[in-house]
Amino acid sequence: MAKSVLIFPAGMPRSMAYLERALSEGKSVIGSSSLGHDPAREHYPKWVHLPYVTAPDFDEELRQVIADFDIDGIFTPNPVVWDYLNRGIAESFPGVTLINPSPVASEVAPYHKALQFGASVLSEPLAVAGAGETRPSVSALEIAALFHHADSIPGMCDHEKIRALCELFRHAPAGDVVEIGSWWGKSAFVLMRLASCYNIGNLLCADPWSNEHLIQNDEKGLVDRVSVNADEALTVFQLNLLPYAHGSVNYMRRPSVDAAVEYRRSQQVATAAFGETHYTGRIAVLHVDGNHSYDSVRADVLAWADLVLPGGWIIIDDYIWPYGDGPQRVADEFLRNQLPTIDCAFVMGGALFIKLDGVAD
Ligand SMILES: C[S@@+](CC[C@H](N)C(=O)[O-])C[C@H]1O[C@@H](n2cnc3c(N)ncnc32)[C@H](O)[C@@H]1O
Repeated sequence: MAKSVLIFPAGMPRSMAYLERALSEGKSVIGSSSLGHDPAREHYPKWVHLPYVTAPDFDEELRQVIADFDIDGIFTPNPVVWDYLNRGIAESFPGVTLINPSPVASEVAPYHKALQFGASVLSEPLAVAGAGETRPSVSALEIAALFHHADSIPGMCDHEKIRALCELFRHAPAGDVVEIGSWWGKSAFVLMRLASCYNIGNLLCADPWSNEHLIQNDEKGLVDRVSVNADEALTVFQLNLLPYAHGSVNYMRRPSVDAAVEYRRSQQVATAAFGETHYTGRIAVLHVDGNHSYDSVRADVLAWADLVLPGGWIIIDDYIWPYGDGPQRVADEFLRNQLPTIDCAFVMGGALFIKLDGVAD
């Protein structure tokens, strides 16, 4: 018969998350804590009380529980309990292992990753040549903080793209930052934070957040058949950006072409979630990441690109995209037609980054 896993203390958030995973894998799980009444108890198939780890009879009681429930693994996200067990598990509880690595190491690992990213952005700057002002970089700590928060937001903005964005904002004029296609807000968060760090301007997100506009006509239909909820995506976007927005972010829940008409008409945008935001009507950074069909990307670029300032940036996401070539065809046409007005262009993280020539007034 399969052995069982003990989760102790069973009510901690990491314990509850492990419980869900263990049950879905068909493991036999016993929950335990030292509280007289633990509300987590009702979520566990089996439950047993253990004294606090500081109690003189803790080891003896735990040995009894191990024998009674045929336990061969213990999951504990509590750093003190983990450390106590880790020091003497082989001698005191033979045949039992700790399932999870050190909780302290696990909790700080993402921060280490972020700090490494921040340090590497500063130590390996991209050679973005071109006219115009180059701002000194913000600190490695600032970049690490941006990376860490961005990493907690689900979405389609990978680390290489974040690295390129960190660099290009140093070479951008002041003006609005516009994103076409924001979904859950991952790239929007990065754009908003960099625009604020480098005093570029406010961020406007144009996205209809509607299932109808998600049809991309991708080559094999694999993208179009994924089930999504656009209303929920807008709520997730709001949850991700609200704490940092402070009046510097807003959105138009419209297809980008309609949003461009509205943006040309008025540079004030108000929503219940974000309040009122003022824009200048001239774009420093344009991020095109809406519907990826050729017709849509072309319409997006036609509707917005002429508003980008000299020295400003146009980013066409998914220039390299496994599901179709809409972004790449539009981007290549743009490069061909606008060649004399382009300062530099490069592909990174699958996106094409284009810097327009000139210096904004
Ligand atoms: C790939 S997702 C954006 C991902 C996001 N930029 C990120 O990096 O996390 C594409 C988004 O484009 C939006 N979209 C589709 N058609 C659009 C249109 N015509 N104008 C603006 N956005 C559109 C979709 O609603 C969806 O949110």
